[in-house]
Order: sequence, then C-alpha cells, then structure tokens
Amino acid sequence: MNASDVVETLTIAHWDGPVPAESQRRAEVGLEAGRVLLFPALAFHPAPDEHALLSPDALDNTRKNISLDPSTGRLGGTALSGAERDRLAAMMSRFAAAATGFLRALLPGYARHLEPARTSFRPTGIDDRPTSPRHDDRRLHVDAFPTRPLHGQRILRLFSNIAPDGAARHWRVGEPFADFAGAFIPRLRPALPGSAPLLAALGLTKGRRSAYDEVMLQLHDAAKRDENYQRRAPQVALELPAGTSWLVFTDLVLHAAVRGHTALEQTFHLPLAAMAEPERAPLRVLERLSGRAPV
Ligand SMILES: [Fe+2]
Repeated sequence: MNASDVVETLTIAHWDGPVPAESQRRAEVGLEAGRVLLFPALAFHPAPDEHALLSPDALDNTRKNISLDPSTGRLGGTALSGAERDRLAAMMSRFAAAATGFLRALLPGYARHLEPARTSFRPTGIDDRPTSPRHDDRRLHVDAFPTRPLHGQRILRLFSNIAPDGAARHWRVGEPFADFAGAFIPRLRPALPGSAPLLAALGLTKGRRSAYDEVMLQLHDAAKRDENYQRRAPQVALELPAGTSWLVFTDLVLHAAVRGHTALEQTFHLPLAAMAEPERAPLRVLERLSGRAPV
C-alpha cells in the first residue's frame, strides 16, 4: 500500500462552489471506494479576533474536544465563558456552514440527504491525551458511536487543520474495510439478548442500537485492543499540512490520528440510499461477509 492507494487529491480552493463536474465525479467515486479526499488548497481561516481561541486553554480539561450540536446550538466541552464562549461558538458555526455548503456543491448526489451532525474543535495535541486503548484514536479504527446508533447510515467527516503554528496533522490509513472486517468478524461476540432495549431505556443510547451498531462498535474496540494488528496491519502514513482540509467516510476507512493539534471537524450522516454504490457501505459489506443482515 502507498499513499496514492488511499488518497484522492482535489485542487478546490473555495468553500462555496461551484465545483466542476469532473471533480464531483472523482469525489463521489473516491469516497465510496474508501479513499481520503484531500483538498490541499481548501483552508479555513479563523477571523483575527478568533486567534486567541486556538489554544488548549479553550478546552474543559475533562474532555478531548469541544463540540457544537447543530440541533440545539449547545456548545459542550469548553472552559470559556461569556464573550469568548460566544466567539468560539460563532467560529464553529461558521465552519459548520462552510463545510455543509461545500459538501452540497461537491456531492450533488448526496446534497438533499446529508444530515449535518456535530461540529468539533480539537485544540490540544493528539499525543497529549491520556487514554485507554479503546479511547486512543492514535490506534487504527473505524468510527462507531456508542451513544448514537446509526442503523447503517454512513459517517462522513470533513476535517480542517487550522494549526496557527503551521503544524501538520499526521494520520495513518489502514487496509480496505472488507479485509479488516473479514479477519475480525469471527472473533466478535453476539450482543447480549435484550441489551439494545435496556441501553435505550436507561438513556445510554439515543434510540436502540441495531445489530449493525453493535458489530461496528465491536470492530472499533477489537481493532484498537489488538496490539499485533496495530503493529502489523497494512498502513500508510499521511501528512495533512496546516491550511488543508480532508473528507472521509470514517465508518469505512481504517484511520488513526497520530500527531497534530488544532483541527476543526464537521460530521455528517448519510442514508445508504443516497450513495451511488450502496453495496460499498460497511452495512452491505458486513451482510456479504456474514451471509445475513446485521440490521
Ligand atoms: Fe476516528
């Protein structure tokens, strides 16, 4: 494996489109095939009065990132208050709007179906975080949310490196999802009978976890806990310079965020039906591998 297997580079420099048809096509094909779309010229610029916010001091020490919930406008995980807090929320809202507009211009087939979810701001250095293996995003994993069942919907994430000192963000990207899942599925345990309604009733999950969510969470945990896999699995190092943005289906692409600080990220959910090739979705891959429907 080398970087050209896992990265598709697009030289778009504006958030507000229009995007040439050829770039739209490459974006959709590349994403669904499990490549990271890299936009080397797509920079998000904080306003001059926002530069002071780009500091680990913005973070509430118990959290690893600051998040903005678009449905409630609630900002969580910050130590800031008053005018500074409002300024941070405004910067994150502006990023969310830019990211959403950009994706609608880039991916017209997805545009009507994209559901913007949380916006996050990650002001600290990745390697500063004390974590258990399960919470250690420096280890290869696919994303799965313990508290937000998706029932097969996709997780699409746009990242921008806004490090004021110009530090690159370093990722590693792993092997194709089908190879990874095929090796790990025989090791997964069946969900406890009744655990999904119990978790939902206790308010621990937003709605019931499906068999798909259970399998994805187990894949996430199993990959991170397997030291041997982390060391030996095929993987490619990516350097993502300050001033660049990148877009990836993080439920499909094995990824590890190894080093770097000060990034913004916007999550989107996407129904399978909006994909050009839904059979490439993790849900369909898992169905083929297991010979039955995990939903
Ligand atoms: Fe992740």
